[in-house]
Amino acid sequence: MKALVTGCAGFIGSHITDRLLADGYEVTGIDCFTDYYARSIKVSNISDARKNPRFTFIEKDILEMASFPDVDYIFHEAAQAGVRASWGSSFSIYTRNNIEATQRLLEWFKDKSLTKFVYASSSSVYGDAPLPMREDMKPQPVSPYGVSKLAAEHLCYLYWKNYGVPTVSLRYFTVYGPRQRPDMAINKFVKAITHGDALTLYGDGMQTRDFTFVADVIEANLLAAQNGSSGDVYNIGGGSRITVNDLIREMEQQCQKVAKIVPSSEQKGDTRDTLADNRKARESLGWLPKITVHEGIEQYVRWVRKG
Ligand SMILES: NC(=O)c1ccc[n+]([C@@H]2O[C@H](COP(=O)([O-])OP(=O)(O)OC[C@H]3O[C@@H](n4cnc5c(N)ncnc54)[C@H](O)[C@@H]3O)[C@@H](O)[C@H]2O)c1
Repeated sequence: MKALVTGCAGFIGSHITDRLLADGYEVTGIDCFTDYYARSIKVSNISDARKNPRFTFIEKDILEMASFPDVDYIFHEAAQAGVRASWGSSFSIYTRNNIEATQRLLEWFKDKSLTKFVYASSSSVYGDAPLPMREDMKPQPVSPYGVSKLAAEHLCYLYWKNYGVPTVSLRYFTVYGPRQRPDMAINKFVKAITHGDALTLYGDGMQTRDFTFVADVIEANLLAAQNGSSGDVYNIGGGSRITVNDLIREMEQQCQKVAKIVPSSEQKGDTRDTLADNRKARESLGWLPKITVHEGIEQYVRWVRKG
């Protein structure tokens, strides 16, 4: 079996790559090392994969690729992530890497034989929808990032509808775990608490998030590739929510240190609360999240300590 992983050097893409290689796939990975965070982190993310003879790495921007390899599966993780940075003139980075790059892939594969095209969408498409968020609710993003992820989701649907590209969109709810992006809260908080540095808390800390451990997200991708219904969308969430204040308390306990919190104002584009209704993924994909926030933070802290 052959797979293409876009954004293979990123947080989630590198885990998908490792899992596919472990499962015996031949994997081609594409990543252009965007400068959103340090190249050295991404190089390290794929250092094991690059030792595997079944892995081919292409360091290139999707929009600059003249062609793509023939594969059975695509896991499309490449994107400009981050809600807060998506306002203002940076929006063009989001339209380019999230919308145009997705369209470029779909155009190429519309005439090719493909078993499944799994697209990494986001809970950000829901905005401030009532909880729990269900796939049949009207998506109404509250950030430019969410708009770009939703636009790409629509592209996935229309290339299935018009050209039969077997796309499946997975709406990830805040993913965390080893290799988490340095701009994300759990990464920043655990490092700050461990080193005794100050951490910035936006808003009153009573905002809630449905956190999803990365291993569960990888499993969802594999199941979506096998069981996902083409043209469809599935929530992939940890299945429970926790306030940011309680999350910090959990980290304090596991790091055995007290956080030095610096309060700051709420950030535009941040959703107040998220919680996935996972029923559809459970019934159609056979997917269930297995890792609780307690277990996930424990694994994450252990990983950070290993250095
Ligand atoms: N991490 C989360 O909590 C989360 C939540 C919801 C959705 N997602 C989605 O999951 C996917 C992966 O997110 P992540 O957290 O691993 O982000 P990441 O930034 O770690 O990984 C994305 C990778 O894509 C690469 N990339 C970006 N544009 C590219 C292009 N045009 N050509 C080639 N490579 C390109 C970047 O260099 C980066 O390595 C993204 O699509 C993101 O929107 C993530």
